[in-house]
Amino acid sequence: MQNGIRVITAMNRKGGCGKTTLIMGLASAAAERGESVTIFDTDESRSSWKWMERAKAQGHWNDLVRVIPTLSASQVIEEISAIFAQPDQEHLILVDTFGGGSEAQDHLALISHLLIAPCMLSANNYEESLETGLWYVRLKSRVEDPTELPPFRVLLNRVPLSRSAAEHEIYEKVIRNMPVLGEVVMNRAMYTRLDCQGLLGEIRKSTKNPGVANHLGTALQEMDEVLAELDRTIREEE
Ligand SMILES: Nc1ncnc2c1ncn2[C@@H]1O[C@H](COP(=O)(O)OP(=O)(O)OP(=O)(O)O)[C@@H](O)[C@H]1O
Ligand SMILES: [Mg+2]
Repeated sequence: MQNGIRVITAMNRKGGCGKTTLIMGLASAAAERGESVTIFDTDESRSSWKWMERAKAQGHWNDLVRVIPTLSASQVIEEISAIFAQPDQEHLILVDTFGGGSEAQDHLALISHLLIAPCMLSANNYEESLETGLWYVRLKSRVEDPTELPPFRVLLNRVPLSRSAAEHEIYEKVIRNMPVLGEVVMNRAMYTRLDCQGLLGEIRKSTKNPGVANHLGTALQEMDEVLAELDRTIREEE
């Protein structure tokens, strides 16, 4: 399947909802497919950049993936134009933000093909994701041509295998009130490993423990399925 060049931006006003984890997971899945990946780290804390440094130090990196730390939206736009100027290719461009759903990030939204708000099953995550959705609706009314705006989707994240009644209630509310993706990301210890050690596929290659390798494969597969749904969503919009 040819997906070409696409720009996916993780945005949610809620801190700690899993934006960077999603970027790291999608980069892992795309690299595993043999695609080029460019991550723009627009977070002042440079979490994606630091992740790459940690991964490289442990030999868990793949040169298909590069991270560009920048706080300048115009630099992001320039670099993306340079990628589009290259011949036809499979290239996943990921933008990690520090929050989003603020006017400061409007221009990042406008250069994206898809906006994803990860949302964990807590009341705060729910409220802030709703707020982020409202920012999107307001942005639609501000821009000259609303059809230029990419779709906005919520991705349920850190979903536990068995949900408490409160978590279930939030789950239902998200599905009822927000444009939610069908795929969800489960609560997995392997995503902590991803953060500490590097790309999922590269960690798997070097791990000797078959049980761990199996769990890493499951996480990689989950991210591949999420990426496939994101690509479908982008295609359907075009
Ligand atoms: N699906 C998951 N399973 C297990 N742990 C997760 C999952 N998603 C995120 N986490 C953990 O939750 C914490 C916060 O995630 P992350 O840093 O990705 O959020 P963020 O939205 O990028 O935060 P910030 O707004 O500070 O940039 C991290 O410790 C991460 O490992
Ligand atoms: Mg982050």
